[in-house]
Amino acid sequence: TELLLLNGPNLGILGRRETEVYGTDTLADIEQMVEKEIADVGWQVRSVQRESEGELITAVQDGYDTVGAIVNPGALMIAGWSLRDALANYPKPWIEVHLSNVWARERFRHESVLAPLASGLIAGLGATGYVLAARALRSLVAD
Ligand code: DQA
Repeated sequence: TELLLLNGPNLGILGRRETEVYGTDTLADIEQMVEKEIADVGWQVRSVQRESEGELITAVQDGYDTVGAIVNPGALMIAGWSLRDALANYPKPWIEVHLSNVWARERFRHESVLAPLASGLIAGLGATGYVLAARALRSLVAD
């Protein structure tokens, strides 16, 4: 049983990307934190980070067998319409996560085209947001 952890453009360089905004945790750190959160229910993490929308869409399509997903779309939140359509057909609950509080930032980050389809959204809590999303998925999937 796998949980899909999907990260979009520029999130593979976490830990050395605008650390004052995104913190110093690397994507590998985040993967470990999520793994730890779900280990006792016997789930594993399928982590996919891609720079391009098409490859993220393929990961969603290939992920129909996963139990749920955590999605940080990066800037694709703003106009990732094809990713949105892919997620519309994803059959399991998924949660949108942003490390930064996008509403405390530039206006162009204030609206996500994906968010209306998500079970919930967590923003501004850094790497902890992913852990909380994993925790939420545990109960969403159990319901
Ligand atoms: C982000 C917020 C986005 O606006 C930005 O484009 C990112 C990261 C976040 O995690 O805070 O790439 O998704």
